[in-house]
Amino acid sequence: MQKKGFLELSLFQHIFDQLADSLQLINLYNWGEPLLNKDLSRMIKYVKKKRSDIKIIISTNLNISDTSILSDIMDSGGDEIIISCDGATEETYLKYRAGGDFGMVMQNMQFMADYKRRFQMNTDLIWKFLVFKHNENELEKAKASADKIGVQFRPGLMRISMQDEIFKPRSESIQKDRDWIPDNPLYSAYDKENNVTKKTFKTCRKPWQEISINWEGKVFPCCAVYEDQYNFGNAQEEPVKDIWNNRMFDLARREILYRKQSVSTVCGICRNNGFMHI
Ligand SMILES: C[S@@+](CC[C@H](N)C(=O)[O-])C[C@H]1O[C@@H](n2cnc3c(N)ncnc32)[C@H](O)[C@@H]1O
Repeated sequence: MQKKGFLELSLFQHIFDQLADSLQLINLYNWGEPLLNKDLSRMIKYVKKKRSDIKIIISTNLNISDTSILSDIMDSGGDEIIISCDGATEETYLKYRAGGDFGMVMQNMQFMADYKRRFQMNTDLIWKFLVFKHNENELEKAKASADKIGVQFRPGLMRISMQDEIFKPRSESIQKDRDWIPDNPLYSAYDKENNVTKKTFKTCRKPWQEISINWEGKVFPCCAVYEDQYNFGNAQEEPVKDIWNNRMFDLARREILYRKQSVSTVCGICRNNGFMHI
């Protein structure tokens, strides 16, 4: 189990200041829920004040009862708000989003769409609908609801457990989660008959192009890796650029470029299992 906590504004600023000149995109979310961080809008404003051209995306489950938080986030100038809602009815929604409140998500989406219209904002509001076997029959209904509310609709390809994709042979991990995989091949990344991904990946460029930093400042080679033992350094202790060029990143990049039987980084493990489906 990972330790949970909130990224502090001061740590965010410390990291951002080091990278401000080179960044193009910030995903201000990963495994947690960004709207729970009381400093989220301050972080967005901080970035936009220094570099308005950096794109900022957040993804939220929108299970929040205080709409002033929503207007605050929209006012702060983020570019894209992804709303995770994997169903068009409460019953279906709850299968993946256990404990969530479908009615609240619908109300909040409407609130945001109205707010955007009223203040003529540019923020993209996107209803993201991960397509699973249990909800594929609700795609059309969800699309119609999105049109009615006034948000964009984006079906997403569901993935089986990312940890399994990295650490287990592909056929084993697909077999384990096959009941979640949709039947419609248009919305599936997997070939369930043969237990393979439909696309094969020859390589991965992530450790050359992006960096993932968790709330404690721990640095990972991509957003799918979060277990403490695989961190490549800590941004509270060292400059991010030193971590980016350290021995672990160097090894990881080499293990992606050159296949080896015996590997010492999570990137080498991922490669040996056929590269995570990205
Ligand atoms: C893990 S969520 C966390 C952020 C936020 N709490 C939310 O619910 O959007 C981050 C992103 O992962 C995506 N996601 C969640 N489960 C997924 C799965 N099984 N396959 C592919 N993407 C998934 C969501 O659609 C969301 O955009």
